Amino acid sequence: MVTLENYAAMVNEAIAHLKLPKQPAGLYEPIRYALSQGGKRIRPVFTLAAAQSLGIAPEKAMPQALGVEMYHNFTLLHDDVMDNSDTRHGRPTVHRQWNLPTAILSGDAMLTLASVLVGDNAPRSVVENFNQAALEVYEGQQYDMDFESRDDVTVQEYLMMISKKTGALLGAACQIGALRAGADEETAARFYQFGMNYGMAFQLRDDYLDTFGDAVTFGKPIGGDILNEKKTWLWIRAMEQGQLSAIFDQGLRGQEKIDAVRAEYQRLGLDNDIERHIQRYIDAAQESIASLPISPEFAAFFTAMAASSALRKK
Ligand code: IPE
Ligand code: IPE
Ligand code: MG
Ligand code: MG
Ligand code: MG
Repeated sequence: MVTLENYAAMVNEAIAHLKLPKQPAGLYEPIRYALSQGGKRIRPVFTLAAAQSLGIAPEKAMPQALGVEMYHNFTLLHDDVMDNSDTRHGRPTVHRQWNLPTAILSGDAMLTLASVLVGDNAPRSVVENFNQAALEVYEGQQYDMDFESRDDVTVQEYLMMISKKTGALLGAACQIGALRAGADEETAARFYQFGMNYGMAFQLRDDYLDTFGDAVTFGKPIGGDILNEKKTWLWIRAMEQGQLSAIFDQGLRGQEKIDAVRAEYQRLGLDNDIERHIQRYIDAAQESIASLPISPEFAAFFTAMAASSALRKK
């Protein structure tokens, strides 16, 4: 059956069989640690599903799926440094479990391993799309950091930023699976559109959960975005509509700051408003796949995946 669980199990099995050298342990041990932490595997699942929906055995796209997941986990190592995050998947982040140089160098190795995997037996278009998405992620991450020190970021700028840091890789994950299966340009582009819109919904939900989620389920501490003054949709809307700058002027710190900002978001009803905004991207994602040359079973799979991103808790 075509399910997230079945594909994720295939990915986990393949990750468990990845042949990584043992030495130097300081380089490879953190990679094994990062990859075995219970991520959702959404990106590689999309790569496999896109490939299979167009008629090839999912195993054939496994190197590309693993490459995308390796790349994603590389970005998380460096993202946790940039965001000063202590916890991921309910466990210490790599730079906390080891140290900063380890997060840098193991991350570097993961990027190279990812490139090798993505290029394994793949058409040139797969590598090109991967490289393009990878660069966009860095651009998005740079905007994300630049925005921390600005308080006039617009919703449009925020959407541009998340389309790069998150949408581009989810788009590429789908597109790469399609291209590996020999998709024509139009089909591949529609898969990209699906992943991009899914990614927009996904990051909006991530930002929601960073403030309103449950730390144990989410696996990351709640309130990090508020402490880092990340310019999320919630933050930007609260700045436009409410008393957010007055709250910041109080100079609150730590949990007090998180509580005050969260209360302001709730007072403005933004925790509900964001759901409508997320739904628009889910609708767009579902539209992108509606006319694809795939069987009803796969169409139902992608439709359900998009719908579930609105409700996810982790
Ligand atoms: C985390 O991605 C980074 C974002 C784009 C929000 P995921 O939430 O997919 O992370 P894992 O792989 O499941 O841990
Ligand atoms: C992450 O955005 C995007 C990338 C890793 C490229 P976040 O910084 O919100 O991701 P989390 O919340 O730490 O997983
Ligand atoms: Mg970040
Ligand atoms: Mg982060
Ligand atoms: Mg986040």
